[in-house]
This record gives sequence, structure tokens and C-alpha cells, in this order.
Amino acid sequence: MNACPAAANPLLATVRRAAPRRIGVVGAGTIGPDIAYYLKSALPALELTLLDVRQPAIDAALARLRGYADKAVARGKMNAEAAAATLAGLTGSTDYDSLAGCDWVLEAATEDLALKRRIFADVEARVDAQTVITSNTSSLPAARIFSELKHPERATVTHFFAPAWRNPAVEVIDWPALDRELLAWLRRFFAETGKLPLVTKDAVCFMLDRVFDNWCNDAALLLDRATAAQIDSVASEFVHAGPFFVLNLAHGNPIIIETNTLQADEEGGHYRPAPIFASVQEWKTQAPSQRAPLTPALAADVRERLLGVLWSQTLDILDRGIGSAADLDLGCRVALGFKAGPLELMEQCGHEEATRVLQRYAKERPGMPMPRRALSAYRPGERHVLVDRLHDRLGDGGGDVVVITLRRPEALNALHDAMTDDILDVIRRHEDDATVSGFVITGYGQKAFCAGGDIGRFPTLLGNAEGAAQYARDCSRLLVHLDAAPKPVVAAIQGMALGGGFELAMRCHALVAQRQAWFQLPEVALGILPAIGAMAIPFRRWPQAAPIFQRMLTTAERLRAADAHAAGIVAELAGDFDDLIERACARVRLLASQGEPPRPGEAAVALPPFAPRPADGPVRAADGRVLSPTVLGVIEQGVREAAAATSLSAALETGYRAFGKVACTAAAREGIEAFLARREPDFTRTG
Ligand code: COA
Repeated sequence: MNACPAAANPLLATVRRAAPRRIGVVGAGTIGPDIAYYLKSALPALELTLLDVRQPAIDAALARLRGYADKAVARGKMNAEAAAATLAGLTGSTDYDSLAGCDWVLEAATEDLALKRRIFADVEARVDAQTVITSNTSSLPAARIFSELKHPERATVTHFFAPAWRNPAVEVIDWPALDRELLAWLRRFFAETGKLPLVTKDAVCFMLDRVFDNWCNDAALLLDRATAAQIDSVASEFVHAGPFFVLNLAHGNPIIIETNTLQADEEGGHYRPAPIFASVQEWKTQAPSQRAPLTPALAADVRERLLGVLWSQTLDILDRGIGSAADLDLGCRVALGFKAGPLELMEQCGHEEATRVLQRYAKERPGMPMPRRALSAYRPGERHVLVDRLHDRLGDGGGDVVVITLRRPEALNALHDAMTDDILDVIRRHEDDATVSGFVITGYGQKAFCAGGDIGRFPTLLGNAEGAAQYARDCSRLLVHLDAAPKPVVAAIQGMALGGGFELAMRCHALVAQRQAWFQLPEVALGILPAIGAMAIPFRRWPQAAPIFQRMLTTAERLRAADAHAAGIVAELAGDFDDLIERACARVRLLASQGEPPRPGEAAVALPPFAPRPADGPVRAADGRVLSPTVLGVIEQGVREAAAATSLSAALETGYRAFGKVACTAAAREGIEAFLARREPDFTRTG
């Protein structure tokens, strides 16, 4: 199948440029070394030179990176060999000649146009015409930085977010001179190395800094009414850490002065930075977990002003085509720590309320951008999935394949009802299109197809049997549709498929998996159970593999792709991601040529007995963790009832109700709270 360089899922783009072997990072301040650490931990074989004019800065940066690696080993995130490989091939230099032979030079020096131009002239004099050149500027347009290069087509801005070794977001600036294939290569490179590339237009401050800088600037302008601590407290409804706390952390005051002055000079005086930025070193605020008292009236004032600036910037970015609505929401969550994207927030508040807030904001901040269209026109088509149409290369009338990519990288593509609704919308939209033969569902990035149901949503379901069962039914709308879908849907599995992710794959009409992919139903270890099909579907669809699924359900045993293939669960194994998609598309066309996709059986099925529980001592998961006997009892009973049900819908309903039942146990509360608090659950206390 053919994918174009502009594919929505960066991994679907076909690119010819090879992976980099030698990278130079210019600037050993804060972010340059962090970028170097990301690159080296993603590609340990890479040779990387960290260049700075000051040797002490280089020494300090290399020591910092050794500290990162030591910490990763101490926390069990990396083994000693991986840490040694990350640090090997990492050198410092004060000499631009050391950049000769690099296939990518990435600049992260001071935010100064003249300086950056000098650096790039020095770089270009030493590297060949194919070397990629990028700048990490957060505000200066690529056209200004690179217009004097001999080969501007190989240069652009790649803007990282702090801390760059961990924060996945990277803005990749699409400017007119940039080679299309290089843009596709950069996006693909970032996605392959665990980052989230967001393509934005070449506007001053690009996309996310426009939001962040103005959010901070309006917060500072509010200091005539409220304290920094009070403003941060109000902001905590929307962000994990308030603007002043983040400014302290990032030593961000000079940056706001610089970037807002730039915006003011180019777009109007309303962007002028609050004068107080020039006189404050550190803001007096509290940790994000604490709250400063303030009156309800003042809280409402601050809240509306913060929402006003957030939406004003958001709508302006969309009106000017600086970025896409889905990228903006996602970028605000991932890069800036917003709990929900600005457009999601607008939906939650309602358009009438948002209009009132914006009108009030317009009065308080004359000149700031206002919507140019009805608010409903700004809503993204799909928020949580990317959609690509791969064209029929054979031209044999077999039809195109629509590839749906689950994209919630901040939660390993975990599923919730809004995401499943997005998938369903895409499928419905193409079902009557005679030129589409079917669908492939895959996950964003290399690590996870999908890490299951979104555990962040579970606390509200605890103790509410009917609510929990209904949530499972709502999340199942897509799956029930797939059971009777007129066109085939194939799951293309890379990395892990856990819990609800595996349940989604089970309802697709075929599974194709990369060899290193694996499956797990980890719910029992969380004190819950898989609610959207795993209690019923596997036993109807792959009765020969019933013992495997019984062990998976009751011990959270992992299933490797090769074993799933041997057991007939996975139809085909694939090598790299390109091979995976190629095979998945071929399978769609094969299934489409065979008529209606197969449906899970309606009739009751026989079950082998569950393995007996130990007579003495606790029941344990496959990895040795102690499990809840209460939860195991609910799972075993639910599976037996589902197997005995005489229709598919009754069998599924058994699973939803079992989920409702388990949600009311003390074990579920303990398991979910432990996951969210990043600790081991203790089911010995809960039964
Ligand atoms: N729901 C919500 N968030 C999830 C998630 C899920 N099912 N699975 C992972 N995430 C989040 C993590 O909380 C973490 O967020 P943070 O960076 O804000 O803390 C992020 O995704 C990355 O996961 P992390 O745990 O740091 O990655 P890891 O490689 O160390 O571990 C897993 C990966 C999948 C083993 C681990 O995340 C996990 O056990 N997830 C739960 C899987 C599960 O039980 N699924 C069934 C749910 S019903």
C-alpha cells in the first residue's frame, strides 16, 4: 500500500534517509544536554558531540548526564549495560571542526537571532550539504534563522520541551523552504524514538509557547488582584502545576520577557510582558499539592481570566492555521501539563459559558485575539486517533485501507469512551465508501498498541456497580459494532496490548502482530477484571486456547506474540512496523475478498475447569504478586456464566455486570489507588 510523506501517523511515511549515526548538539546549557541524553538513550550506538564555547559548561553537562544514567539504574529504569552504552560515544568539544562528519547538527544555544545565525554559518562551513540542521529555538521563526544558509532546505526548528530527555513533545516547524521528505523523516525519527512530533507553522513562538507564554503573562498581569500562590491554586483546576511554580522551576521570567516582547513588536502592544517580570527572581508560591485561600469571587475572577487567555490563544492558533486542533489539545496535555486540552475544556464548559468568558476577557484585555468563527467550528474531528488512507497500489480494485492509529502517548494509548467513539466514528464514516476495503487499527509509537482501559477514569466508578457496568457498556459500543461490521477490521499490534487494548484486538476480525509484541490481561493484579469482552469472547472465538485465557485472566500471565500465533489467536507475525502494516493491509483485502467478516459465536460454549487455588497460602499472579481471592472468585464465576450464556449479547452483559460487581470490592479500591499512587497493592488487607 502507498503512504505519502504527509501521513498523519508519522510511522506510515516512507522515507529514504537513513537513521543518524553521528549527531552534534551545540549548546551545553540546560536543554542541549537533555536533548543529548534523549538521543543517546534512544539510540545508544549513536556518536554524539556536545559542543560549547565554554569547557566548564561541557564538563558540568557531561557530569549531569552521568548522573541521569546512574539515577535510571538506581531506579531500575535501565540496566547497567544500557547505561554504559548510553554514555559511550558521548564526547564534549569546544571546536566547531568536531562537527565535521555529523549527519545532524542540533542547536540549543541562547535565544538570540544574530548568535544563532553565526552558529549556523559556522556549522554549514563544516558539514556537507545533506547534513540536517535544526534549532531548538522556542520563538524565532525558521525563515529568519536559516534564510542565509546555502542549503536552507535541510534546516528547520525542532523545539523540545523541558525536561527534554523525558517530555515527549517536539514541535517540528514546517516552513516553505523545508524539504518535504526531511519533514517526514524528522517526524518519523521522533516517533520511532519515543517522542511526539507536532507539526506547526513558522509563526513567532510557534504553537505551544504562544499558549504557555501568554498564560504566564496574563497570570502576572493578575498580580494586582491576587497573589502568585492564589493564582497557582486557581490554575490547579486546569494544570498539574500553576504558572508561577513552573516559572520558578524553569527560571522562565527572562524567557517570557523575550518572547512576549517579540510578540508585542510583531503583533501588537497587548502582548507586552508584565513589567513585574523584570524585577522578580523567584515567585512566592507553594507546591502544586497545596492551596492558598481566596474568596470565591476572587477565585472566579482569576479562573475566568485564565480561561480567557487560554481560549483566546487557542482560537487564534487555529484561525491562523499554526497547528491542528487535536495536536494543540494533545500538546497542551503532554508538553505543558494541562489536565485537559483547551478545546476539551471548552466542550466541558459549554459554548455559551465559553462565549461569556471570552467576551469578558475581550473587555479586560483589549486587542487580544477573539474567535472568528462559531465556537463549534473549532472542534477537532477526532481527538484521540489519527486517520490515514493507504491507497491501493496494485490497482486491482481491491480498495484502499483506512489505518486508524490510537494516539494517547501520555497514557500508552490507553482507551476510554471518547477514544472508542472516535474509532467508531471513523469506521462508520467509511463503511459505505465502495473504494475502501476495510480498516487497520494500530497504536501510536513503538512501545504500545494500547495499555488497556484508562485507569485514570476508574476512581469515579469505584463503589458504583451500575455506573461501572454502564461505563463498560459505553466503551463497548465500538466492539459491539465490530461484531457485525460489514467491512473487515484488522488489529496491527506493535509493543504491548494490555487489558482493554487486547479486548479491542480480540474483536477485530484478524490480529497481526510484530514478533516482539505481547499480550496481557493485568486487571486481576489491579483488583478488577477486563470488562469489555475478555470474559466471553476468547472462549467463543478460540476455544482451543481456553486454558491460555483462563491463566491470563486469573494470573495476569503474559502471552508472547509467537505463542499467540502458535495458539491460533494471532493470524500472522510481522517484522518491523512497515512489514506489520503491509501484512495487516493485505489481510484486510484478503478478508474483504471473502465476503462478510466472521462473527463471534452466539451459542454457549464448554469450558475446562479453572486451575485449583493453593490450599495453603495466598493466590499469586504469574509474577508472584499476591492477588485478591474475592476478585478471582468474581472472575471465575463471570467467565462460567458468560460461557453458559445462549447469546453473545448475554455473554457480554455478564462481563459488564461482573465489572460492576468487582468495582464495589475493597480490593478494586486498593488496586486502583495503588496504581495511581505508583505503589504495590496490598490485597492481604482487602480479601
Ligand atoms: N491507563 C492510564 N494511564 C496509563 C495506563 C492505563 N491503562 N497504562 C499506562 N499509563 C500511563 C502511566 O500512568 C504513565 O503516566 P505518567 O507518565 O503520567 O506517570 C504513562 O502511561 C507511562 O507508563 P509507565 O508506567 O511509566 O511505563 P512503564 O514502561 O514503566 O510501564 C506498563 C508500562 C504498561 C507496564 C504500566 O504502565 C502499567 O502497568 N500500566 C497499566 C496496565 C494495565 O493494568 N492495563 C489494564 C487496565 S484495565
